[in-house]
Amino acid sequence: MAISTDLILAKSFLEKGQLVAIPTETVYGLAGNALNPLAVAAIFETKNRPSFDPLIIHVSSLAKADSYITEFPKALRLLAEAFWPGPLTLLLPKAPEIPDLVTSGLYRVAVRVPSHPLTLALLESIDFPLAAPSANPFGYISPTTPEHVSDQLGEFIPMILDGGPCKVGLESTIVGMEGEDIIVYRLGGLEIDAIESIVGKVKLQDYSSSNPQAPGLLESHYAPTKPFILGDLSKLIPNYASRGKSFGVLSFQDFSEVVALEKQIRLSQNGDLKEAAANLFAAMRELDGMDLEVILAELAPDQGLGKAINDRLKRASATRQ
Ligand code: TXA
Ligand code: MG
Repeated sequence: MAISTDLILAKSFLEKGQLVAIPTETVYGLAGNALNPLAVAAIFETKNRPSFDPLIIHVSSLAKADSYITEFPKALRLLAEAFWPGPLTLLLPKAPEIPDLVTSGLYRVAVRVPSHPLTLALLESIDFPLAAPSANPFGYISPTTPEHVSDQLGEFIPMILDGGPCKVGLESTIVGMEGEDIIVYRLGGLEIDAIESIVGKVKLQDYSSSNPQAPGLLESHYAPTKPFILGDLSKLIPNYASRGKSFGVLSFQDFSEVVALEKQIRLSQNGDLKEAAANLFAAMRELDGMDLEVILAELAPDQGLGKAINDRLKRASATRQ
């Protein structure tokens, strides 16, 4: 398995129907030719992902997106013009050439233009879109570095395109329309306020609502293997300490004075939500890899990117079915 910046090598694997992990500003994706059902099937197999969970296709420009959809509602086009390339995925009526396996038979396809120079150059060099879910085993934390990808999927893929650590660190915000309503299906790296500044009020799907159309919205997702307990750290820490449990702490801004520093990670010393978002998944992985029984965590302030951070924290703490 190669971890490299060689675009020609990446292209050659993709043209053969093989998979390559690609960097984006949000998280690393496990990419294959979206027009080749065998490559798409390999994505589901490699991720151990149920095939009813549809995939996002990645293209290099708004003009390219046009060729894989049948209609671009005006409000959504305005969002694309404002935020592509960037952490925004749009659900749009799909053109027939997109295989049903990509969309799980749904009438809409999820499309985005990622903002990463290497991946944009790769997308410009090929004549098909890349289907790419986050490059992690289904249900686990999304990868934000090449090492995260190689730790879990390295033995199953020929190459990771090395684009360094992801700058945003949270998956894209997913937006679509139902009638006249603009719906946010997944909170993510693009803030609601930014979206509303272009198209006015949007409707939000509650994090706990079950939505068979988008299993990424399943209550338990983005989850470490260790129990992940979310709450008020000033109460959780003495509680778990008194029970003799070994635990690690994921805090937003402050370290606890009663816990060893090496068992604590804080997301942002200055309480900066962007920095916290970029650090979140790496911090969850690091704590998951430590010799501990439990991870204790607290929510971020519930504003701006904090809403998406809190969505991921809540899903990480939800019990698996
Ligand atoms: O930032 C991102 O979006 C990353 C990078 C790699 O682009 N990708 C990503 O993909 O997070 P994935 O597969 O891990 O999550 C995509 C979510 C899933 O929850 C899926 O159910 C939903 O998008 N989705 C995809 N296509 C859909 C469709 N046609 N209708 C409804 N939901 C869809
Ligand atoms: Mg995912």
